[in-house]
Amino acid sequence: MKFEKVIIYYFSGTGNAENTALWVSDEAKKIGVEVEIFNIAKINNQKIPRPAKNTLIGFISPTHGFHFPTIMRKFIKKFPKSNNCSAFIMNTRAGIRIWNKTIGGLSGVLHYWSSIILIRKDYKIVGLLPVDLPSNWISLHPAIKKIGTELIYKRVEPKVRQFAKEIINNKRNYKALFDIIQDIIISPISILYILFGKYFFAKSFIASSDCDMCGLCEKTCPVQAIKQVDSRMFWTYKCESCMKCMNNCPQKAIETAHGFIIVLWFFTSFFVGYVISRLLNYPNFENWQWLQNETIKTLIVSLAIFPFLFIGYRLMHWLMRFKIFERFFVLTSLTKYKFWGRYKSPNKRIKTHSNN
Ligand SMILES: Cc1cc2nc3c(=O)[nH]c(=O)nc-3n(C[C@H](O)[C@H](O)[C@H](O)COP(=O)(O)O)c2cc1C
Repeated sequence: MKFEKVIIYYFSGTGNAENTALWVSDEAKKIGVEVEIFNIAKINNQKIPRPAKNTLIGFISPTHGFHFPTIMRKFIKKFPKSNNCSAFIMNTRAGIRIWNKTIGGLSGVLHYWSSIILIRKDYKIVGLLPVDLPSNWISLHPAIKKIGTELIYKRVEPKVRQFAKEIINNKRNYKALFDIIQDIIISPISILYILFGKYFFAKSFIASSDCDMCGLCEKTCPVQAIKQVDSRMFWTYKCESCMKCMNNCPQKAIETAHGFIIVLWFFTSFFVGYVISRLLNYPNFENWQWLQNETIKTLIVSLAIFPFLFIGYRLMHWLMRFKIFERFFVLTSLTKYKFWGRYKSPNKRIKTHSNN
């Protein structure tokens, strides 16, 4: 017996998860099941009603740091209890093409974490699927070219549709569990990403002098993380690094400040190194030679970087009003250079209940 209704809740930075949600909704319509689709960034402050009996609920989101982004995690946590309903979870991941081969991304803990939360709310989990669409993480690597993007999309779309058909027809599909060993191995990194990485990446964005203050990034940021400070765009800690702003900026004025990150790292290492050497000069700390261990030093630098990041980002923002500093921070951003490019998903605009 198939479900009476499917409700899909998705979050998407650059369109991959949105397209995935659209494919699932399309399959539901083909099967003749009523479907509703919501972008959670647009309904996040609203109270979600308890789903009617025999509804299939879908959660679809990109993977960020081997987990779901904060907005999706919070959404699942506060989601209402089940009413004899089932649920499926899909994460879009970083697929990369290397010599005609598509290498899948890494999901980490998200399927297990979400399943536990939803089972505790009495949902029956009927599907878990990682979806390897192109990586949009252009703070780390050059954008995947249009041709690679299209090839990955062509390969993945039928798999998503097949999965959707199965679960809507009340079959089970737990493909995500094939990755359980690699997911467990990398799981500690997801904790580090939540505690530190997320904030670090949030504070790596800058707007160059090409920015004409059109305000598009501020208006369309799914988590309202961008604001104007001293007539320049400023990224707050709320930023999810979803890449929407950077990939959509009409002036291509948003960059990842790699130069700033390197200066910050060197400065913090220098400072930490200096403090440690001073400490060891004091008689009371003579036995603390383990502080000289390189791994321990790197760990301390990684933690110490946060106060520096907080002050450093503000300082960079202020310094960027001077042309010479603006040029330094912009020209040392790899994203500034043409070969790096921007990521564009073949994004079909869809009308959802929340944006029409
Ligand atoms: C900040 C950030 C972190 C990411 N972390 C992961 C990850 O841990 N594993 C992975 O496979 N892909 C990761 N990715 C890639 C995205 O999950 C992937 O490109 C996704 O399809 C983007 O979906 P969207 O277009 O709906 O935003 C990351 C991307 C970003 C921007």
